[in-house]
Amino acid sequence: MSKDKTIYVCDNCGYRTIKWLGKCPACGEWNTLKENNVAPKTAVAEKNLARSQTKGANKALTLSSIADLSEERKDSGISELNRVLGGGLVLGELILLSGDPGIGKSTLALQMAAEIAKKERVVYISGEESAGQIKMRAARLGLKGDIYVLAQNDLSKAEEELKALKPSLAIVDSIQTVYLPQVNASPGSITQLKECTERLMFWAKDWNITTVIVGHVTKEGNVAGPKMLEHMVDCVLFFEGERHYQYRTLRALKNRFGSTDEIGIFAMEEDGLKEVLNPSQVFISERSEQAVGSAITASLEGTRPILVEMQALTIPSFYAQPRRTASGVDFNRLLIILAVLEKYAGVKLSNQDVFVNIAGGLKIDEPAVDLALLVALASGYNNQALDSDWLILGEVGLSGEVRRINHLKKRLNEGAKLGLKKAVVPKSNLEDKNILSDCPLKLHGVSNIAQALKILF
Ligand code: TYD
Ligand code: MG
Repeated sequence: MSKDKTIYVCDNCGYRTIKWLGKCPACGEWNTLKENNVAPKTAVAEKNLARSQTKGANKALTLSSIADLSEERKDSGISELNRVLGGGLVLGELILLSGDPGIGKSTLALQMAAEIAKKERVVYISGEESAGQIKMRAARLGLKGDIYVLAQNDLSKAEEELKALKPSLAIVDSIQTVYLPQVNASPGSITQLKECTERLMFWAKDWNITTVIVGHVTKEGNVAGPKMLEHMVDCVLFFEGERHYQYRTLRALKNRFGSTDEIGIFAMEEDGLKEVLNPSQVFISERSEQAVGSAITASLEGTRPILVEMQALTIPSFYAQPRRTASGVDFNRLLIILAVLEKYAGVKLSNQDVFVNIAGGLKIDEPAVDLALLVALASGYNNQALDSDWLILGEVGLSGEVRRINHLKKRLNEGAKLGLKKAVVPKSNLEDKNILSDCPLKLHGVSNIAQALKILF
């Protein structure tokens, strides 16, 4: 008889070793190897055999002879969520909703559950809160749908209840707190997480229950679960936001049934998450007229343009190495823009502390907002405000050139909708005559940053 053996598995990449190591030799991460019990070989073989008997096809089929899957989407009742999912929930879809603790995952899951429960049966399995607590939360959120709530950590017991209730949606909150009793590992360990998720995959695929798994990640992002689970699920949603701001963005990091470009924007309020249907308005609403170190730009998130206010503050530094702080924009991108600004526009920032922020706490990693960042920095340094009806668009190259960006028209229209009157855009974009016809803004094409600064200041 073989005994259970202990091995060590890397949280980050899944590398296995029989000896503990401080650094994973495969991915180079530190402190990611965690103890893990493996079942005896015979048990694994038995399980594989059972799998092979229940799953998979024996005969290959040509595409034309395969029956069509219905592309029917279930409305989640929350349009920002539908947008990120690619139009709604798909029958039998397995979704991982991940994010930092306290960001609002349970709130979002409960709100969705209540919406769907107005029409269909929904079971909310909670390993974190008692049924009473969930009821209290639902009441506070003013939710109407009647959800079945099961406060249970043992997934095999939850499964019995699912068999009886046959819901169309199940929510498991959270994967770190549930377990299967027959698995020889504690809740939250890699073995449990994998086995439990496999079980949930079975619910989703064989019983056609759309299943949402809630999973926490820590600030370092190196908790075992969600990273490893990403391979097993159809869709990975990531809920993020700065703690101090009320805005939260929902992104799909992986989506078998839709694109991963769209984001959903929510505001966490007293009575739950509210959809932000007009993000541009929200993100530039607090801008003051004639603000120094501020420039408005339009970022394209998926198919939707969003106006944001780029803010920059510069002050003489007392340090040998001046400080640079970037929130919302990529730090390395900031360093490049600072270097370009100094070299090609003579704005001497190398002895200044520089702080950059996107108002509202949004994160943007699109090069089309480069020029706005540069303009905000120049405005901050020169103590000169821009007219408040400028829209600044363009990617900045290493030799100070302003480069073409995509979807210019969409961005301009969004600016016009919110009352902007004129725009600095890359000159190369204006070769496309479509842009010029019925353009709602007065356009100024520029081919380098010096031209842009000359027009603006
Ligand atoms: P929660 O959904 O419990 O987070 P998670 O499941 O991701 O850990 O929400 C956590 C925070 O949200 C909590 O600190 C309080 C805040 N919150 C509100 O501001 N308003 C609300 O209506 C709710 C339900 C929560
Ligand atoms: Mg929670």
